[in-house]
Amino acid sequence: MISIIVAMSKNRVIGKDGQLPWHLPSDLQHFKQLTMGHTLMMGRRTFESIGHPLPGRRTIVLSQNPEYRIVDCEVVTNIEDGIQLAHSTEELFVCGGAEVYRQTLALAERIYLTELEIESDGNALFPKFPVEDFKTIFTRRYKDIINYQFSILQRCASRKKLSSELKAKLIETKRESFAGQ
Ligand SMILES: NC(=O)c1ccc[n+]([C@@H]2O[C@H](COP(=O)([O-])OP(=O)(O)OC[C@H]3O[C@@H](n4cnc5c(N)ncnc54)[C@H](OP(=O)(O)O)[C@@H]3O)[C@@H](O)[C@H]2O)c1
Repeated sequence: MISIIVAMSKNRVIGKDGQLPWHLPSDLQHFKQLTMGHTLMMGRRTFESIGHPLPGRRTIVLSQNPEYRIVDCEVVTNIEDGIQLAHSTEELFVCGGAEVYRQTLALAERIYLTELEIESDGNALFPKFPVEDFKTIFTRRYKDIINYQFSILQRCASRKKLSSELKAKLIETKRESFAGQ
């Protein structure tokens, strides 16, 4: 299962100049609890903003540079390879940034969504997505330095089929282009 995990402001900002625009300890704690023991997939810029692999998690980093290497991480040059590296039975957490969210939203079966109760200044945005394709299965408000709401959105069953078909198509396209090389 592919899940997205993201924190955004009211105006959909997720990042500013390559960094998170805020420091929210309790949300970072949620991130840790949810992802511990699982596989993460992230873009090269997000990885570099963190600066190291997160302990206790397998990290897949996307870069178009086939020479790019990071100790204790797996680097892939496209999303389909990243998905295939993760076991199909496990939850693969896509954890940004904006460019990677844009390419994986249509594949996500679940979104762990933190919505901060502020407008924020930034240059990386979480893309708009069809909220009607998801149902909220959990929601809770938290008080921290910035108050926020944490929700879990699950793709509706009727849309799940579409997502699986899209994923299969992506993998098939990849195989075809590989065979043609
Ligand atoms: N608030 C949150 O929840 C959250 C979470 C994560 C990140 N962020 C923020 O988001 C910002 C970073 O986002 P971003 O959009 O600038 O960068 P990004 O998505 O983290 O990384 C983009 C890079 O990933 C690689 N990439 C993307 N798609 C690829 C593909 N299909 N195949 C191969 N490589 C691919 C490319 O690396 P190469 O250039 O090496 O080819 C690309 O330049 C930062 O400010 C960060 O702090 C916020």
